[in-house]
Amino acid sequence: MEISGFYKLSVDERLALLKKEGILSEGDIKILLDTGSLKIDRADLMIENVLGVSHLPFGIATNFRINKKDYLVPMVIEEPSVVAAASHGAKLILPEGFSAEADEPIMTGQLQIVGVSEESLNKIEENKELISSLAKEYAKQMEEYGGGFRSFSSRFLKTKRGGMLILEFEIDVRDAMGANTVNTVMELIAPSIAEMVEGKSRLRILTNLAIKRKARAKAVWKKEVIGEETIEGILDCYEMARNDVFRCATHNKGTMNGIDAVALATGNDWRAVEAGAHSFASLEGYSPLTHFEKNKSGDLAGRIEIPLAVGTIGGAINSLPTSGIALKILGVNSAKELSMVMASVGLAQNLSALKALSTEGIQKGHMKLHARNIAILAGAGGPQEIDTLADKLIEEKKFNLNRAKELLQEMRA
Ligand code: MEV
Repeated sequence: MEISGFYKLSVDERLALLKKEGILSEGDIKILLDTGSLKIDRADLMIENVLGVSHLPFGIATNFRINKKDYLVPMVIEEPSVVAAASHGAKLILPEGFSAEADEPIMTGQLQIVGVSEESLNKIEENKELISSLAKEYAKQMEEYGGGFRSFSSRFLKTKRGGMLILEFEIDVRDAMGANTVNTVMELIAPSIAEMVEGKSRLRILTNLAIKRKARAKAVWKKEVIGEETIEGILDCYEMARNDVFRCATHNKGTMNGIDAVALATGNDWRAVEAGAHSFASLEGYSPLTHFEKNKSGDLAGRIEIPLAVGTIGGAINSLPTSGIALKILGVNSAKELSMVMASVGLAQNLSALKALSTEGIQKGHMKLHARNIAILAGAGGPQEIDTLADKLIEEKKFNLNRAKELLQEMRA
């Protein structure tokens, strides 16, 4: 949704606008203003040894048009400039926006059986119908939603601790992230497999390298909009990431800034998303998750492909009051759609970072918010005084509290 100047509004004005648009209810607003409303009793049931609840800012990135549909993208993050950068990257490709697609939500569970020889593979082959029917039975509850067991494969791994039989089960988890479903199926089926091959079952868990569950997004940044020199700068940055693993780590970190923030906002397991992203990036030698090139017209074509094991139901989504609100703001109809939004956000985020890095640098954007924070700490009140003092600190490139207090006194005198 293109809401120009959203960042210039106060928090109350932003909430009122979303209420007017029919996106937020009075109840949602109460929860958001009550710093998330995660009650201590609920928190105490979520993890162990609870002492309290911690909070992070919840914002929305604007300007995201994906497959011709407009989105407001909720982001939860402590780092300044991430929301602004995502919105900026997305704005520069309007009105076209991104095109995106995603695989079916297939997760893979791994089963490890030790104390067996390579011949155990024959036993698995002989029993494949039985194994499939067991897996189908154990994953039955997913069938109600159109998911369920899809297939399995086996292989033998030779390691310094001896041979291991590895079975991998593919399960369509529909709109769930799927960890609970997959891990439960693995634990249920393991004893039968172990008995079949007369081995010992060890590990029974999903892989976070959700290779069958990738999302892809692409977009074209026109040279008339971002400028030919900016395109050259972005391509130089991208080329460095392709050729230098130290840069590539930071390049991918910038991409994940946006993706993780959406994962956090929507109550998804961002560590799983991170693990999937970086292991995927390493498959052929650690590489950028995004790709940029100049197309025939001299515009910048960008794309991203990334495994995204995210859900719109289950897990922490039901426990965290703000996750439901985030999904409502997003208006996605499936986990697949959520992954397409996240891939697009990652691409926009990376584009903006590279654009800033190859031109004015990223500190300017960061420092604006930093300076505003110092201005508030120095005692500035009201948007105008805060902004004037922040501008003075930026002009002087002095970001310390004492100088801020001095300047504030001068301003007031
Ligand atoms: C900072 O959180 C992210 C960047 O370092 C990403 C990048 O260097 O591409 C700005």
